[in-house]
Amino acid sequence: MKASRARVSGGVRLYAPGARLVSTRQVAAVVEAVGHTVAARAIGCVYGDMGLGKTVAVERALHLLPGRVPVWRAVVGVAAGLPQVLAALCEVLGLPSGSLTHRAGSAAICP
Ligand SMILES: Nc1ncnc2c1ncn2[C@@H]1O[C@H](COP(=O)(O)OP(=O)(O)OP(=O)(O)O)[C@@H](O)[C@H]1O
Ligand SMILES: [Mg+2]
Repeated sequence: MKASRARVSGGVRLYAPGARLVSTRQVAAVVEAVGHTVAARAIGCVYGDMGLGKTVAVERALHLLPGRVPVWRAVVGVAAGLPQVLAALCEVLGLPSGSLTHRAGSAAICP
């Protein structure tokens, strides 16, 4: 396999030659939101138009979490529906399928 030419800046992979992470207001907002989400043991969603920097901001936020916070990555297809998202989360977290509620609010999961 060909080696990746990605350059890592601030814990974020960037693909343009010479690129570096820019600490925008939006990146700071996502960093703060992810910190609150982890503290609340909740699920959050970063959304916006394509190419706006969602993945960069989330990668930066994950990089800034304390090392003791475990991070798993669940990959879902493009335009996945809620059932596909929940199934992917169950798989990556090793939970029985169907153990995540389809409703908003607390999910009684004790990993
Ligand atoms: N804060 C930033 N600093 C430097 N480069 C950035 C930053 N945010 C975005 N970029 C550049 O913009 C590109 C697109 O950003 P990113 O992949 O995060 O967008 P996205 O919103 O996740 O896109 P998609 O909707 O396709 O998933 C990055 O690969 C990077 O080159
Ligand atoms: Mg993205």
